[in-house]
Amino acid sequence: MNTAELLSWLTETDELRLEQLWAEADRVRRENVGEAVHLRGLIEISNYCVRRCAYCGLRVERGDLVRYRMTPDEVLGSARDALKFGYGTVVLQAGEDPGWRAGDLADVVRRIKSETALAVTLSLGERSPDEWRLWRAAGADRYLLRFETSNRALYDLIHPAGPDGKRSDRLAMLRELRALGYEIGSGVMIGIPGQTYADLARDLETFRELDLDMIGVGPFIPHPDTPLGKTAASAGPEQPPADELMTLKMVALTRLMCPRANIPSTTALATLNLAQGRELGLQRGANIVMPNVTPLKYRALYEIYPGKACIREDGAQCSFCLRGRLAAIGRPVGRGPGSARVVPNRAE
Ligand code: 5AD
Ligand code: FES
Repeated sequence: MNTAELLSWLTETDELRLEQLWAEADRVRRENVGEAVHLRGLIEISNYCVRRCAYCGLRVERGDLVRYRMTPDEVLGSARDALKFGYGTVVLQAGEDPGWRAGDLADVVRRIKSETALAVTLSLGERSPDEWRLWRAAGADRYLLRFETSNRALYDLIHPAGPDGKRSDRLAMLRELRALGYEIGSGVMIGIPGQTYADLARDLETFRELDLDMIGVGPFIPHPDTPLGKTAASAGPEQPPADELMTLKMVALTRLMCPRANIPSTTALATLNLAQGRELGLQRGANIVMPNVTPLKYRALYEIYPGKACIREDGAQCSFCLRGRLAAIGRPVGRGPGSARVVPNRAE
C-alpha cells in the first residue's frame, strides 16, 4: 500500500467502505498468524522514571505520585501467576528506572527462564547497550520500545533529553536491539497534539521498514498532571483524533503493512471502550492481548494515563474476564510463547 492509499484510509469516513478495511485486515490476520490470541502477562515492575516525557503520568516531575519498585521475589511471584493462568510470555515493564540495577534484573530474568518455559519480554526504556546485552545473555527474548511518532520534531517536543542531556534515537536503538538478537517491538500513540495524518502514514511505513516483530498502537489519553495533558487538543483539519475509530484504522492498516507481526489490542484501546474495545481490535487485525498480572496493590500507581482499564481487578479476574471475552468472539487462546519468528500452527 502506498502513502496516498494509507492517507485515504486514515481519513475515510464512509462506514461501508471501512467495512472493507476491517474485513481485509481480519482476513490477512487469519491467513498469516492464525486464529489464536496469545496472552502476555504484563508485570509493571516499577513506576519510578527519570524522564520527563510530556505525555506520561510516570514522568519524574510528578511529585505527588507514590512510587513503588517490586522486589525480585515479587516479580517471580507474578511470573508464576502468569504461568498458572496459562500465559506463554511475561512482559516486565517499568519507567526508566536505574534503581532496577542491570545485574538484579538479569538475575530475575535468569530465574524466570530456569523455572518456567515462559518467554520474557522487557519494556524498560532507553537503557545502555551493555545492559541490553547482559539481559539478552540472561535469557530475555524480546524488547519493546515504542518510537511514539515518526515525526522527529514532534518527538523531540514531547520527549525531552534524558538525564545525560542526550537526545534519543529510538530507531537506532531498535536496530541495536535486533542486532543483539532480541525480537523487537515498537509502536506509536495516535492523536498526539500536533500530529498529522501524514505522520501516521509515515509511522505505518516505518513499521514495515523496521521489520518489527511486535507493533502496539494506542490512542493518546491526556493525563491532567502532565504538560501535554494540559494542552487543549488543536482541532485543525490535519490533526487525527485520539479516538477509538482512528485507533482501529491504525490497527487494521498495521496488519496490512506487516502481515506476520504480533499486534496487541492495547489497554489504551480498552480504556476508551471498556465494553468492546479489545474485541474490536482483535477483529480488525490484532492477535495479542496483554493481561495485567501486576499485584493489585501496585496497579493504580502505574498511572501512565487516567482511567486505565483493570486497575481494580487482580490477575485471576483479568484472566477469567479475558477468556470469557475471547470465547464470546470465537477465538482460541494461543499456546506456547507465540513468537513472530515461528510459523503458527494453522489449526490453533
Ligand atoms: N496516553 C496513551 N499512551 C501513553 N503512553 C504513555 N503515556 C500515554 C498517554 N498519556 C504509552 C507510550 C509508552 C507506553 C508504555 O505507553 O506509547 O511507550
Ligand atoms: Fe482485566 Fe477484563 S481483562 S478486567
